[in-house]
Amino acid sequence: MSTGSLWGGRFKESVGQQMQEFGASLPVDIRLYEQDIRGSIAHANMLCVQGVISTSDKQLITDGLRDILKDIQAGNDEFLDIKHEDIHMAIEAELTSRIGAAGKRLHTARSRNDQVATDTRLYVREAAESLCLAICSVRSAIISVASNHTDAIFPGYTHLQRAQPILLSHHLLAWQNMLERDYARMLASKASADVLVLGSAALAGTTYDINRFAVAKELDFASVSNNSLDAVSDRDFICDITYACAMVMMHLSRICEELILWSSSEFGFITLSDAFSTGSSIMPQKKNPDFAELTRGKTGRVYGNLIGILTTLKSLPLAYNKDMQEDKEGLFDSIDTVSLCLNAVSGMISTMHINANKMLEAAQGGFMAATDLADYLVKQGLAFRDAHEVVGKIVLFAEKNKLQLHQLSLAQLHQFSDVFGADALEVVKIANVVDARTTYGGTAKDQVLSQLEQAQQRLTQDIKASRTLPR
Ligand code: ARG
Repeated sequence: MSTGSLWGGRFKESVGQQMQEFGASLPVDIRLYEQDIRGSIAHANMLCVQGVISTSDKQLITDGLRDILKDIQAGNDEFLDIKHEDIHMAIEAELTSRIGAAGKRLHTARSRNDQVATDTRLYVREAAESLCLAICSVRSAIISVASNHTDAIFPGYTHLQRAQPILLSHHLLAWQNMLERDYARMLASKASADVLVLGSAALAGTTYDINRFAVAKELDFASVSNNSLDAVSDRDFICDITYACAMVMMHLSRICEELILWSSSEFGFITLSDAFSTGSSIMPQKKNPDFAELTRGKTGRVYGNLIGILTTLKSLPLAYNKDMQEDKEGLFDSIDTVSLCLNAVSGMISTMHINANKMLEAAQGGFMAATDLADYLVKQGLAFRDAHEVVGKIVLFAEKNKLQLHQLSLAQLHQFSDVFGADALEVVKIANVVDARTTYGGTAKDQVLSQLEQAQQRLTQDIKASRTLPR
């Protein structure tokens, strides 16, 4: 007597409800329904062309699957019941209950092992594409703030101590560079998912005369896997996108950390829009950068998902093992989390107010022109060590008199060295300090403007390059 499950023939007893629920992945993989149906339609079309199933069965199958898709999209999905182990079995069972015997022919020359890998690859390819675009929108927000504030001078830090004045745009372009690399990693993870594995069957291929290349063409996969064992057990593409997600979060957490610092009263460099801040239930004066903090905090989970999948895969023998069912929860969580965070950060950046005066004030404090003044003396013929000593004394004097270097008069400078000319007063002006860093990639305005333009061009290219999937 059959136990009623899809492998009922071999079994005398069915698992208890607890074990059924323990083994089920439906609550997690339910979101693969569209990919599952698309993959099944391509499989059925190919089986028909190859003469494995009849045209009328193929028609019943593909029409039935399209109806199921419409029903799920309309919210009529009560048939996706937990009594089914996963989305693949739930859809197949529903198809068979709707169209009868033809439904049972769909699974010819296929196993859930190649089916689940195919569906997940389809999903990851699309998710990577939309994450690429989401990364681009943060880059675009950064570039537009940088373009609108090309004169804003900002204190550059090392060790979180003021180091040298730079342009705010220079700092922002460093953020854009981080995200540009994330984009490249995300695009690469889309490519790593872009391999057709369907047709590998359970592990060894199939005795039916199938045409995997036709399926790859219909599903728009860039290539066809060449080893059936590897194909059903390869989850590298999940590691790849999960790693790309972890890197995005690492960068977002660094950006958010700066947004949090900059929006504090201690810094006061930016004011986050009310739409991206929250208040306190007890302290009426407070405006908290909650979403920046939350993004920073969610980084932990996304890192956890990476170590989770790596550990699940560790030591697994070939080929498919049920362990692999654990691959999707962390994957989906990483994709969802990164997508939410990119959206939040893009909003925060494009709506924040830049307090350029506060930045300038901070950039002018801290004697950051000291190196420039020493270099000036070297150009007048002093040895660097002597120049260092002279400027050290000047800094001490200025500090004692509560003056900044640009506030010293020529007469005051002459007390320390008579080689100072009137041009020394120009050297310590903050904008000149910035503009003197003319190195390729340095902070001088011409350099930054040219980097800004190139970043914009690369962004335009990247947006174009991310949209490749048919929709
Ligand atoms: N739900 C399973 C998963 O996600 C599908 C593959 C099951 N294959 C099997 N032979 N039990 O991995």
